[in-house]
Amino acid sequence: MSKVEKDEISGTDTTGHEWDGIKELDTPMPRWWLWTFYATIVWAIGYWIVMPAWPLISDHTRGMLGYSSRANVEQELAAVEESRADVLKALRETELAEVKDNQELYQFALTGGRSHFAVNCSQCHGSGAQGGPGFPNLNDDDWLWGGSVDDIYQTIQYGIRSDHEDTRVGNMPAFLKDEILERDQVSDVTEYVLSLSQEGRDAEAVARGKEVFANECASCHGENAKGGRDFGAPNLADAIWFYGGDKETIYKTIANGRANVMPAWEQRLDDAVIRQISLYVHSLGGGE
Ligand code: HEC
Ligand code: HEC
Repeated sequence: MSKVEKDEISGTDTTGHEWDGIKELDTPMPRWWLWTFYATIVWAIGYWIVMPAWPLISDHTRGMLGYSSRANVEQELAAVEESRADVLKALRETELAEVKDNQELYQFALTGGRSHFAVNCSQCHGSGAQGGPGFPNLNDDDWLWGGSVDDIYQTIQYGIRSDHEDTRVGNMPAFLKDEILERDQVSDVTEYVLSLSQEGRDAEAVARGKEVFANECASCHGENAKGGRDFGAPNLADAIWFYGGDKETIYKTIANGRANVMPAWEQRLDDAVIRQISLYVHSLGGGE
């Protein structure tokens, strides 16, 4: 049964509900609470009008103030860009080898170069530029194409065997696959290559291999196998290996050839960025 009546103790009306003699009071909301509640409604309506709020099918309501967090970010980026414009210009116009003379500019380049390297280069060369099989270590002083900052700049700009017309070129031929050498000759010259950095190789095979090397390999790798930068031919005598220095890998390299690709960056990165990365790579320890 429901019958509204006044509760004697609190003086408040009941809702009229009663369960087993327990009656429910109908206590009104406090004033301050109600007014706050109404104020939030008014605030919300005002907010919808002045700020971007409601999603539409392909857009959203813009609000009278025209606020946009994206525009703010763009403005901030433009401000940063402007504050850097001078230093980037200086970087583009200073000879790479002379940047070091301006410590402020040099430090700016190294910091920028490090982060650009992490984004663009570390997938292939490793986060510490330590490289891996087929991807050269850029920390050491063993260079395929040259380790002066200008050499490095050129490598990064145009790439190696890339699709850029000024790319660095030079291939390691496939001596067995293309039938330039016999299987035995490839074995012999493998022994010879190993003997350059290891003791105790098969002396007879080494002697035969040495002859093959002089005829077939020295033109690129150099008479004493110390490498040839015109072709990016690695030094074979220093026990630092690009693809791997075990017998099987060397045999495979000679038999099937190698031609790894380093992309060109000229069209993808701003010149000032390539310069920063070049200086950074040069600073890693092996710079010449
Ligand atoms: C897709 C993989 C890849 C990416 C990305 C890449 N490289 Fe390379 N890089 C290579 C390969 C492979 C070589 C070796 C090419 C060869 O066989 O001579 C190389 C060679 C180089 C060399 C020459 C090393 C030497 O001994 O002369 C430099 C310098 C270099 N990379 C710097 C960079 C920088 C800086 C970046 C980022 C802007 C970068 N690379 C991005 C694959 C890559
Ligand atoms: C036309 C030039 C050329 C000739 C000739 C040539 N090479 Fe190469 N060689 C290269 C180049 C370039 C590379 C590096 C390939 C790359 O960067 O992908 C290379 C790489 C190698 C490597 C890999 C080294 C490493 O660190 O992993 C070995 C081993 C090698 N050559 C041995 C030989 C032998 C042995 C011969 C002769 C039978 C020979 N090459 C002839 C250009 C040449």
